[in-house]
Amino acid sequence: MHHSSLRLLLVNSAKAFLVPLCFSSVVFAQSAAILEGDSAIPLQNSQGMVVTSHTLASTVAREVLAEGGNAIDAAVTAGFALAVTQPRSGNIGGGGFMLISRSTPDEVVAIDYRETAPAKAHRDMFLDESGAVDSQRSRFSHLSVGVPGTVAGLLMALDKYGTIRRERALAPAIKLAEEGFIVPPRFTKGLESVKDRLQKSPASRSTFYKFDGSAYQPGERFIQPELAATLKRISEQGRDGFYLGETARLLAEEMAANDGIMTEEDISNYQPKIRKPVQGNYRGYNIYSMPPPSSGGIHIVQILNILEGYPIGSFGHNSAKTIHLMAEAMKRAYADRATYLGDSDFVKVPVTGLISKEYAAELRKSINTTRATPSQEISAGLPSAYESNETTHFSVADKYGNVVANTYTINFSYGSGITVKGAGFLLNNQMDDFSAKPGTANAYGLTGAEANSIAGNKRMLSSMSPSIVKYQGKNLLVTGSPGGSRIITTTLQVIMNVIDHGLNIQEAVNAPRIHHQWLPDSIRIEQGISPDTQQLLESMGHKIELKSAMGASQSIYIDPMGGFQGAADPRRSTSSAQGL
Ligand code: DON
Repeated sequence: MHHSSLRLLLVNSAKAFLVPLCFSSVVFAQSAAILEGDSAIPLQNSQGMVVTSHTLASTVAREVLAEGGNAIDAAVTAGFALAVTQPRSGNIGGGGFMLISRSTPDEVVAIDYRETAPAKAHRDMFLDESGAVDSQRSRFSHLSVGVPGTVAGLLMALDKYGTIRRERALAPAIKLAEEGFIVPPRFTKGLESVKDRLQKSPASRSTFYKFDGSAYQPGERFIQPELAATLKRISEQGRDGFYLGETARLLAEEMAANDGIMTEEDISNYQPKIRKPVQGNYRGYNIYSMPPPSSGGIHIVQILNILEGYPIGSFGHNSAKTIHLMAEAMKRAYADRATYLGDSDFVKVPVTGLISKEYAAELRKSINTTRATPSQEISAGLPSAYESNETTHFSVADKYGNVVANTYTINFSYGSGITVKGAGFLLNNQMDDFSAKPGTANAYGLTGAEANSIAGNKRMLSSMSPSIVKYQGKNLLVTGSPGGSRIITTTLQVIMNVIDHGLNIQEAVNAPRIHHQWLPDSIRIEQGISPDTQQLLESMGHKIELKSAMGASQSIYIDPMGGFQGAADPRRSTSSAQGL
């Protein structure tokens, strides 16, 4: 969808939410005052804000805030609800990262609940006899599945930083699975588009399609009894309800019956980790984002450091000059990503060096301000095509001064396409995020080296970048996005749109985005970058490619003068900001 067609629908502040009008969403019932127009104003509320990619998840998380729960409580509730309402990316069969900024004590913590490779995984497991990468196996077989981290991660967040009972956090998800919900058009469209792939897994077929194999249609009710039972085990037994007993057994059986290597031991051994966020400073604003095993935080800070040397604001938003400099900075950062980044528990990642101002100054010297440096001169690699894909980000802010940025995923839309027989949830294909062979690109065109090679128990490198910006010690911006390799640049642009270009948070989210990832050597743009800007960039030596929309940045701006501003991304038709 193109952002300029965004039409907003605002309802009264008590039950307020914001969605693009071009989507016939499910829950418009209580609208009191409706404001329509082509404006791009964020939703504004004073007591709290939830922005997710699904209306029902925003609603149940908002209820938790309304009862006095904190942002972590609401985030965990949203995380479990999305696993029910948005099977393409909401999950308990995947993993992700949560960044939390707390008011008391004043600290920012990162929870890493990325999947791990099963213990039996090994470096060359996706190579065929000729030594080439077999992407069918790395993306769609039972070998593509990493040990899921979501349940352990969300429960760790709740245990350590939440205030509500586990049963309360899971109740809405259980109800949505058990009693079902009315499916929106996006749900139907998604499942129709992956029918061939999903129906190869008998459990995916019986879980997500009707008896005759057709998809549930908009307006119809979709129930998931097996998933409800799985969620109940988590509600009753906590992490043991997933990593031990019935669910673990069903998952291990699914693997054993289909040439998988994941064992019950791999599952019970899974541990999420508390990590120290990557921290940077950009024009006086403090940037917090994910450290390894995500590459997101490092490269957002690195690109910002490079761009700090130029008066970006005065060059103008999405002007040729601004885009040129952004693309040059992005190329250099992604070239480093391919070489240095991987799971820091297994390899030494030079984080401090990569995010230092001195290194940025060095890199800046290699940038010609009027001419593109060909990527081949920066380093070498073999790019492959981009794929369509899905992850989901959500942001929550409460009245106590806490905020949460969370991005989680099963990698592709619907992950590996494999559903655990008897347990009703889809499994990730995150193993494809490893570098199966040095120099061979993964599904996002990303190459890697030894640092991101496969090893048992190692976490595969991610781009997920839940991020928080603080100004003068106070939370200012909560953001992040899906989009594979484009997550880093999408999140970067929302931050720059606010800091450099003074856009309000809704404009910052809506604005057309650009992306360069070193290889392929082209600037990928969304619709809405003017033709003469494109021509100017071409005359500087850039190749421009117009591609489908990038990312879905569900973001919150916290006005230093008071109040929360929520911005749902119009690129996802079910996106929903709801405040109180
Ligand atoms: O962790 C990563 O970087 C990828 N597995 C994320 C995949 C993704 O964002 C797909 N999205 N739209």
